[in-house]
Amino acid sequence: MNAQLIDGKKLATETRAEIARGVAALKAEKGVTPGLAVILVGDNPASVSYVTAKEKACREAGMLSREIRMPATVAEDELIAAIAKLNADPAIHGILVQLPLPKGFSEKRVIDAIAPEKDVDGFTPVNVGRMLIGDDCFLPCTPHGIIKLIEVTGMDLAGKHAVVIGRSNIVGKPVAALLSRKSVNATVTLCHTGTKDLAAFTRTADVVVVAAGRPNTLTGDMLKPGAVVIDVGVNRVPDATKEKGYRLCGDADFASCAEVASAITPVPGGVGPMTITMLLWNTLESARRVEG
Ligand code: GUN
Repeated sequence: MNAQLIDGKKLATETRAEIARGVAALKAEKGVTPGLAVILVGDNPASVSYVTAKEKACREAGMLSREIRMPATVAEDELIAAIAKLNADPAIHGILVQLPLPKGFSEKRVIDAIAPEKDVDGFTPVNVGRMLIGDDCFLPCTPHGIIKLIEVTGMDLAGKHAVVIGRSNIVGKPVAALLSRKSVNATVTLCHTGTKDLAAFTRTADVVVVAAGRPNTLTGDMLKPGAVVIDVGVNRVPDATKEKGYRLCGDADFASCAEVASAITPVPGGVGPMTITMLLWNTLESARRVEG
C-alpha cells in the first residue's frame, strides 16, 4: 500500500472534543443544552445502526438526544405531526429523519415538514438552495465531512480536477456543489450511472469522491497516480468468517486503489465518523443561533 490513510476516526474524535467544549461553554454561559431529535421509522438494520451511533455521539458531546421510533406502519400524517411538535419545541435545536423512509412514504413531504432553522441535515429545499447560492446555512453533513477529510491531506484543490461518482441528493449533488465553490475552486465532473466510460474521467482526476452505492465501482487501474480517494460507500457483503455474517466495504476496491492513490479513506473509519461529527457541529450551531 502506497497511500496515506485518511483517518476519519481521528479527525472526528478531535472535532467532537472541540464541539463538546462548545457545548459546555454554551451551557455555562447561557444555560442552554443543544438538543437533537432523531426520528427512525421502521427497522432497517443499517438505519438502526446509523441512528444509534448518532444518538450516542450526541450524548457523548453533552447534548440532549431525543430518540423517536415509529413503526413502518405509522401514518405519514402522524409522522408529520411529530415533526411539527418538534419544530415548536424550544429544547430541540436539530431534527433529523433518517432516510430512506420505508416504502409508501413521501420523503419530499416529510423533509419539507422540518423547519429550515432546525434542519441540521441540510436536506430541506431552503437549505439546499442557500447552499447553492453560497448563503449562510446548515451544510449537509456527509459533503461537509468530505471537504474536511480532503483538507487533512493537505491537497490544495484550487484548479484541480475533482470527479464525483453518484448524483444522490444526500451526497453526490451537494458535494459537487461544495467542491466547485470559490473557497475550494476545484473543477468538478459529476459522473453517474448514465456516464459512458467512467474510467476516462477518473483517470484525469486529482480527487475522486465515490458515492455510487456499489462495491468495486472504483479500482486502482481507473486512477491517476497520486490521486486522493474519498470512499463514501457502506456496503454489507456476506462473509461467513464474521460473527455477524457480513463485512463492510466501500465503493472503491481498497487494495488496488491504495496502490495508486496518494491518500484514501478506509471503510469503516473514514467518511462515516465525519458525517456524524458534522451533524453535531450543525446542532451546536443551531443552538447558538436560537439563543444568541
Ligand atoms: N441516510 C443516509 N445518510 C443520511 C444522513 O446523512 N441523514 C439522514 N437523515 N439520513 C441519511
